[in-house]
Amino acid sequence: MSSFQPVRGMRDLTNQDAETLSYVISKARETAQLYDFQEVITPVVEPLELLSAKSGEEIRQRMFIFEDLGGRKVALRPEFTASIARLATTTLKNEPKPLRLFSVGSVYRYDEPQKGRYREFWQANFELMGSSRPEADAEVILLANSLLKKVGLKGYALKLGHVGVLKGIMTQEGMDDKTQNAILQKMDKKEYDAALAMVTSEKCQSTLRGLIDLKGSDVFDTVEQMKAHLQGYEKAVAAVEDLAAVLKLVTESGCPIETVDPAFARGLEYYTGMIFELYVPELDIALGGGGRYDKLIEVFGGEPTPAVGMAAGIDRISLAVQAQKTALQKPSQKNVMVIAIKEAQKTKALRIAQMLRDADVSAEFEVMGRKMAKALEDADKRNVDYAVIVGERELKEGKVVLKNLKQRTQTEAEIALLAQKIKV
Ligand code: HAM
Repeated sequence: MSSFQPVRGMRDLTNQDAETLSYVISKARETAQLYDFQEVITPVVEPLELLSAKSGEEIRQRMFIFEDLGGRKVALRPEFTASIARLATTTLKNEPKPLRLFSVGSVYRYDEPQKGRYREFWQANFELMGSSRPEADAEVILLANSLLKKVGLKGYALKLGHVGVLKGIMTQEGMDDKTQNAILQKMDKKEYDAALAMVTSEKCQSTLRGLIDLKGSDVFDTVEQMKAHLQGYEKAVAAVEDLAAVLKLVTESGCPIETVDPAFARGLEYYTGMIFELYVPELDIALGGGGRYDKLIEVFGGEPTPAVGMAAGIDRISLAVQAQKTALQKPSQKNVMVIAIKEAQKTKALRIAQMLRDADVSAEFEVMGRKMAKALEDADKRNVDYAVIVGERELKEGKVVLKNLKQRTQTEAEIALLAQKIKV
């Protein structure tokens, strides 16, 4: 039988790749704690109906769908928002608002695999439910900014927009939801000509074209120009005013917004308000994105509950971390290899390894039955900091040999003081 490979679009992560991914996850979790978001854990497999309700055609086409042995139509989650909205209508229904909920895990989309685009990837997801105010939008954007800062990325940029602008124009022009959504999907992919080809009214076409071409001298000027351009489209103007309020709050809180995109759309169908995405110069795809969705919880049978959230793409943030050669800011942790000289000292050596672990020193026990020289050579190759050599003679005095593999020095150390000595 030929050797097995992962399924196309799925990856094995090892060494540095695994370390970077889990580093980014730990920073996402720290950010959640800083903003007081509670962690919730939901299933990877969900009812197909739940996941497809308001996600949009793009995601619906890309789900891993199957029937379980009980005949239920289910799918692997392509994102978290639907699951969290379900939670808000069930278990957390009576919790005081706002709800601030954090999740992290793998999600699945049948995307065309390429750099930064996989079929299994990781998201850190944040949802703030119960407030319709711009402060809530600002809070989620500031959180996204804090996350990238905490990870240590440089030169990242935020792009802001409002789905109510395009929707406001199209609704006033009498276009139905289905057509609107199809146009928004095209706009999301920057296929503007294809999007405009679906618009029948000439006036509407030229208003949309004007938005696509609109460029301000800075973000505030862009917003002003949008307002002027949209005179007569009341809903769209109200959306711009909402966008301006969020922009003011965020920028005045010390988080710069690099771009306001007047014709911004995102792939997901449930958005109703502000939308945003995060970028770094090293990658031309978004590191994360989110926005306001005020109707989803109601669609799932809950009380009308406005909500806003975002998901960080952990894999892409990891790629950016590697591209920028960001130093992983982790507490320095010394690691130790414990080696018994002879069979007779094995048990004692194992107990010493346990004692080190109990004292929070990471210790490996030599399990390959290697001779001392070979074991040391191996430890050296793998960048181990210390070797603890357990021999009969030293043991009699309650000691072991402590070899500093980095400095190439060697001393005898009392077993009782060993952890302390390694930690300094
Ligand atoms: P999304 O924009 O579909 O939003 O995904 C969020 C992030 O997941 C993207 O910005 C990207 O970094 C990452 N991502 C998406 N597809 C892939 C892929 N194939 N491979 C690697 N990374 C990928 C959502 O999922 C919304 N649920 C966000 C949200 C939460 N909105 C409101 N609340």
